[in-house]
Amino acid sequence: MSYQDQYLQSITNKEEFWRARANEIDWIQAPTKILSETKPHFYEWFQDGITNMSYLCLTKHINEGRGDQIALIYDSPVTQTTNTFTYFELEKLVSKFAGALQNLGINQGDTVIIYMPMVPEAIVSMLACAHIGAIHSVVFGGFAPHELALRINDANPKVVITASFGIEGNKKINYKPMVDRAIEEANFKPPHTILFQREDKIELNENEYDFYTLLDQSKEINFTPVKSTHPLYILYTSGTTGKPKGIVRDTGGYATALKYSMKSIYNINQGDVFWAASDVGWVVGHSYIVYGPLIQGCTTVLYEGKPVGTPDAGAFWRMIEQYQVKTLFTAPTALRAIKKEDHDGLLLQQYNLSCLQSIFLAGERCDPATLNWIEDLIQKPIIDHWWQTESGWPMLAIPMGIEIKPIKLGSAGFPMCGYDIQIFDEEGVMKEKNSEGNVVIKLPLPPGCLPTLWKNDDRYEKEYLSTYEGYYLTGDGGYTDEDGYFFIMGRIDDVINVSGHRLSTGEMEEIVASYNAIAECAVVGIKDALRGQRPIAFVVLKDGVQKSKTEIEEDIIALIRDKIGAIAFLKNVYIVQRLPKTRSGKILRKTIRSIVDHVPHSVPSTIEDLSSLDEINALFSI
Ligand code: COA
Ligand code: AMP
Repeated sequence: MSYQDQYLQSITNKEEFWRARANEIDWIQAPTKILSETKPHFYEWFQDGITNMSYLCLTKHINEGRGDQIALIYDSPVTQTTNTFTYFELEKLVSKFAGALQNLGINQGDTVIIYMPMVPEAIVSMLACAHIGAIHSVVFGGFAPHELALRINDANPKVVITASFGIEGNKKINYKPMVDRAIEEANFKPPHTILFQREDKIELNENEYDFYTLLDQSKEINFTPVKSTHPLYILYTSGTTGKPKGIVRDTGGYATALKYSMKSIYNINQGDVFWAASDVGWVVGHSYIVYGPLIQGCTTVLYEGKPVGTPDAGAFWRMIEQYQVKTLFTAPTALRAIKKEDHDGLLLQQYNLSCLQSIFLAGERCDPATLNWIEDLIQKPIIDHWWQTESGWPMLAIPMGIEIKPIKLGSAGFPMCGYDIQIFDEEGVMKEKNSEGNVVIKLPLPPGCLPTLWKNDDRYEKEYLSTYEGYYLTGDGGYTDEDGYFFIMGRIDDVINVSGHRLSTGEMEEIVASYNAIAECAVVGIKDALRGQRPIAFVVLKDGVQKSKTEIEEDIIALIRDKIGAIAFLKNVYIVQRLPKTRSGKILRKTIRSIVDHVPHSVPSTIEDLSSLDEINALFSI
């Protein structure tokens, strides 16, 4: 069936389309109800189905005779370690660690926070939660204790699973003190902490346990069947305020969507090697390091390293050749880092990439120069595709397993099955072709997408569903062309993407504003040649502040680093006399951004004081 036929069926005959897809995964009780509306605009997929994610990822393959196949390859240039785990070995670890969690009193519906570097124990922890129906929430290791504390307060975990340390480039990151600081800051106090001890052993306090001691003391246990609608995980993502949004993922809908995507989008079959060079702390890591490839019976790759510097810009190509990777999934920023260090591909030429079928990119729009560069060098399809934490799997792509459509530079491709994507103007009128507007998706969203926010239906409704009746607001702007290709051009809100890390400038403003010398401030995301975007801050000081300019700038930079983490990459703070605003007091962030990026722009007629722009124009004049 062509892409067009399959897509139309998925939109006009949703239930039939997804019933057939759901039949491709195993159910303990197959669903009879395919799509249910539980209250206006809230939907559930496969409501009466029963299954288990750990079963689908591991046990099923063992039952079908593939226990000796490699499920997971771990490659860690930063610790000079490699390891492989067969499906059989991984299942044994998972079902034993699940037993250990149960021994601690963790049961179905309890929440567990996982704050770990890129080690196999992180994947074991995720799958062990799934095994017993506990709900995991992985927190990216690059986040500072304050961010972890926010998530602890929202998720109320019964246990935090962490590691003694991680290695970032050549820096040792000690996780345990960060967990201690987060727990100290949080209002909710998790009753237990489990520590995966790398080489050096840390002394444990009361209610703290060693990962492998617990595991060794426990027995393998059977998985717990759960309802399709049972939350598999909560993954926090940045919104426009200081409070991250807890994206909820169900079990059966997610499993169905991932299974479908592995073949239809990535053209990946059982036994293939799939590598998502992301982090388990991000949605890409959840969907395409852990659950998607394992559901499909592939070999997945966990890489504890960087695209450059561990040891060099040939690392990705070394990995592809060594493990015979068929598909690589990475972020444009990683390719730009490689391009900067190995522009002519001299390192790349040292490796045989004949196993590689294609490279998929996401996280931000891939700039045409980087796409052209990599395509010229490796002569394989490079597919920019668009998705977000909320969707859990791609919304736009070139579906390599259905129909290999030509790639258009700058476009993220076509809507994937189940996504009825439209471009609206502010009033909800559909935009003409080639005219930019707000990207929205007609409800219901397909399986795999968020059903709601963790314990917060109201926020879900307010932030995603209230702008246009019957549509989900993606937060992105973009357009379609006459051939049906979609182009995603950037966020329409205060979310930015720094080196593939989704962050909130709204949250940064709240933190900057908490600094006592500040009267008001604006944080905007500007273009960055390597990172895609990076934040900069403009601050107005209170009268009578005695501190020096340099001291204030350094303090604010340190404050953001301390509260959010080094990944926020705030490096510039500008002290100004006043911020440009509308007469109603709204800060003109878009105008500031355009001035800094040297993008042509018109100044809103509602500006309060035109001269407020002079200072910023002077700072950034070429
Ligand atoms: N834990 C702790 N600190 C981390 C971290 C982590 N997991 N990840 C990054 N950091 C720190 C870095 O050490 C650095 O700290 P420093 O200021 O003390 O040097 C800071 O955060 C900024 O890091 P980063 O933005 O990663 O910059 P970099 O120069 O080290 O690397 C890239 C640049 C582009 C190579 C790197 O960001 C990268 O690989 N990006 C791709 C990310 C990705 O794949 N995202 C996909 C999501 S789908
Ligand atoms: P995250 O939730 O961290 O995956 O970030 C999602 C956001 O990243 C989206 O809303 C987009 O703004 C941006 N994004 C992801 N992939 C792409 C892409 N291929 N093209 C343009 N923007 C993208």
